[in-house]
Amino acid sequence: MRIPVIAGNWKLFKTIGESVALVDDLKPLVANIHGVEIVVAPVFTALSRVCDVVKGSNVLLAAQDCYWEEEGAFTGEVAPRLLKDAGCSHVIIGHSERRQYFGETDLSVNKKTKAAIAAGLTAIVCVGELLADREAGQTFSVIEAQIQGGLAGLEANSLRHVIVAYEPVWAIGTGKTASDAQAQEVHAFIRQLIVSLFNQSVADAVRILYGGSVKPDNVKGLMSQPDIDGALVGGASLKAESFAAIVGFDS
Ligand code: 13P
Repeated sequence: MRIPVIAGNWKLFKTIGESVALVDDLKPLVANIHGVEIVVAPVFTALSRVCDVVKGSNVLLAAQDCYWEEEGAFTGEVAPRLLKDAGCSHVIIGHSERRQYFGETDLSVNKKTKAAIAAGLTAIVCVGELLADREAGQTFSVIEAQIQGGLAGLEANSLRHVIVAYEPVWAIGTGKTASDAQAQEVHAFIRQLIVSLFNQSVADAVRILYGGSVKPDNVKGLMSQPDIDGALVGGASLKAESFAAIVGFDS
């Protein structure tokens, strides 16, 4: 049985005060929801304060990126062990916005994923095709390259500390969700790939999240698909009520 994960990616939104207020509002709304891993990913500057607020609750903390070195002359970067120090259990790696605007590659995703796992974090590794890829019939080859590259050289054991997030770029922030069947098709493909790269039991256990315009009114359909194990939520995670409604998809 795979425990569902609902993760909120707050992207570049909210001050420290606003972040604290959001988790303060969220906590009571999700306190009675069991059997779902709930994760929020504020901006770096808010992590430590949000950690103080979620401590002892069922809300876990993620960062939105990390570097792969532990320390050194790397101005502007944040190491996985520092994220751990700030209270994170998870880190998002290779989000399509980082790939599009900040030069993230499958190689850097791979290095970051290994470093995150080594530091004791769970890596939420993001993959997803552009609209042009889909229209050119290249969805599967793009996803295959991203998964192969991003997870290259990982031990099968390490996959316990990896969550995959499939986020079709054309569905992010557009209000255009992939249909349940479109998402399921790619999720099943990713699981099959993990069978071939690792083994069946690793593939059976790995959580694969869908991301891209997930809202309270479409989460149920997505979550009813056999290979969709959760959601990575952008816009709808910025309000406690809508995020809580997504977390409570099963109630
Ligand atoms: P939206 O839910 O706003 O489409 O964002 C999805 C996303 O990028 C989450 O990482």
